[in-house]
Amino acid sequence: MTPARAYPFLREVPMSMRWLFLLLATPAFAVEPVIVATVDSPGKVLRVELSLDEGRIAYRVLRLGEPVIAPSRLGFLLRGSEKLERNFKLVSQSTRSYDATWEQPWGESRLVRDRHNELGARFTEEIKGKRSLDVVFRVFDDGIGFRYVFPEQARLSDVVIDDELTEFNLAAPATAWWIPGGGWNRDEYLVNRTPVEEVSQVHTPMTLRTRDGLHIAIHEAALVDYSSMWLKRVDGRRFKAELAPASEGWKVRRQAPFATPWRSVRIADTAAALYESNLELNLNEPNALGDVSWFKPAKYVGVWWELHLEDSTWATGPKHGATTANTRRYIDFAAENGFRGVLVEGWNVGWDGQWFGNGNDFDFTKPTADFDLEGLAAYAKQRGVHLVGHHENGGAVSHYEKQLGPALDLYASLGVDVIKTGYVADAGQAERNDGDGVVRREWHDGQWMSRHYERVVREAAKRRIAINTHEPIKDTGLRRTWPNWISREGARGMEYAAWGNPPNPPEHEVNLVFTRMLAGPMDFTPGILSLMGRKQPVQTTLAKQLALYVVLYSPIQMVADLPENYAKQPQAFQFIKDVAVDWETTRVLNAELGDYVTIARRERGGDTWFLGSLTDENGRVLEVPLAFLDPKRRYRAEIYRDGDDAHWRGQPFAFARETREVSSADTLQLRLAAGGGQAIRFVPIR
Ligand code: NOJ
Repeated sequence: MTPARAYPFLREVPMSMRWLFLLLATPAFAVEPVIVATVDSPGKVLRVELSLDEGRIAYRVLRLGEPVIAPSRLGFLLRGSEKLERNFKLVSQSTRSYDATWEQPWGESRLVRDRHNELGARFTEEIKGKRSLDVVFRVFDDGIGFRYVFPEQARLSDVVIDDELTEFNLAAPATAWWIPGGGWNRDEYLVNRTPVEEVSQVHTPMTLRTRDGLHIAIHEAALVDYSSMWLKRVDGRRFKAELAPASEGWKVRRQAPFATPWRSVRIADTAAALYESNLELNLNEPNALGDVSWFKPAKYVGVWWELHLEDSTWATGPKHGATTANTRRYIDFAAENGFRGVLVEGWNVGWDGQWFGNGNDFDFTKPTADFDLEGLAAYAKQRGVHLVGHHENGGAVSHYEKQLGPALDLYASLGVDVIKTGYVADAGQAERNDGDGVVRREWHDGQWMSRHYERVVREAAKRRIAINTHEPIKDTGLRRTWPNWISREGARGMEYAAWGNPPNPPEHEVNLVFTRMLAGPMDFTPGILSLMGRKQPVQTTLAKQLALYVVLYSPIQMVADLPENYAKQPQAFQFIKDVAVDWETTRVLNAELGDYVTIARRERGGDTWFLGSLTDENGRVLEVPLAFLDPKRRYRAEIYRDGDDAHWRGQPFAFARETREVSSADTLQLRLAAGGGQAIRFVPIR
């Protein structure tokens, strides 16, 4: 467009004066960004454009031609040198296509297809430093990932990152599901649902539904030797990466060459497709451990819920939970009901007094006087079950690291092949002691802790031990690379139903499915069939407790209630005994963010299907076509449903179990009570 067409009145102005007007009318930054590289997803659903705006790098994401992420900046503030975000010139670019299917040793599905197009771009400064920064995008049909690579170069080897400037500028109005990032309680918050403009600083995954019904989840993949990314809303719908700080004041310090974690954005039409995406797993490096068939996905019981009920204590004394006699009771319970694992918390020295604050008292090789560790490991073995280890360190991380080797050796020698670790400390208060007499405080989400969690997982792998981290750094799909990192907490789990104020509301688990669970397996610890916490009811129906085993994926699932409470519900307990924990395939049959979800999974190495359906505080009827079943077979559907008058408040025990013969041509009507759910086992009969 000529200036005179854009501003018709300029025709009246002498030609020689027009430039003056244009100079004044045009803001300095209005020079159009220049698109310097593009890449489409294999099915041409998504497109990424990289642009330079007066030397500043930005990216934009389009879906079927419509912007999803508007131009968003990339770059860094580095300590002691110029910003790494201006004066850039694209010096080279390359693309490649990739399509391969890989196998998970355990997981929600055995086979995962990784089909993407990759764009690598090198930017070099045009000023005297001439530093280079690489940006790599992988574009899938259901999302994108990108990361920075700091190449080896003379002028930038010690990289001290004060700020990562990555932005996510959402193109359309949306509703967001989120928990705060950088709050004192780490990631143990109820999920908020607000317009995106009301979001503050959040943990990822942050999940969004646009006004047009597009589903988006922003997260990261392969968080290794770096700090976690929170997202800070800077204005409107524009978010910026906010890295968890290090005690030294910077955010991250690395030596080049290195790559940052991937920043990931899932983009799908439906909530179901958002969940089914394997984006972050695909962005992680392949299995580095080789054969991990020694890890057996399994259910476990243990001295746990009774502690949270305050029926017993972690501390020694008259109410000590981890006694030899009490542990034998759980071993017998596990053996009689076919559960592989028995967790015991409070078995070691250090829990007396205020263990929350006294992490330095923990001894990870010394059992308390009333706990016969060796005798119990032998008894468990004799009964065909395994002790599950427990390392709570109260956030005294350096203290724990000092004992890590011997502590793992001890468990390995006793046949303990799964350990639950714990880092109970307020956010930003993990204790680091480098031996120089200075106590430093680190974030669970920071770079120092990312190295620590990795060290534990690697040391455990050497001894064929799997790790289930509580108070973890967030899950970014590293189970692909280290498949002995089997599960984590990293959200409000069942314990909040026992004593949380407020407790977990009926919508909590549905919210988890589309936020926390997008990141990976969670040790939620379901199955409270007494439906009672410490002094408050669990906000659920009986059937919903069963459905959680199918919906909230983890390769280890706790059978969390007290043995005597299962004895009171033999019918419902049968489902917990039968349900599988490792899956050949997974289908989300229906879902609406924050409202309901139905998931069907086929057990690994078998033909039995399981279905779990959850609703929020509203009752509803869901039609579920059984088209996922093998059309050549007929099945016995063992249905565990809410009773006709069930309601999480007042009638939570109302429950029915019935069986029906079904085929893939049938459609079931699932009637879910308010706060309820349904669980079904489909057993092939011919
Ligand atoms: C918090 C964990 O989430 C919980 O499961 C455990 O019982 C306590 N810490 C003690 O380690």
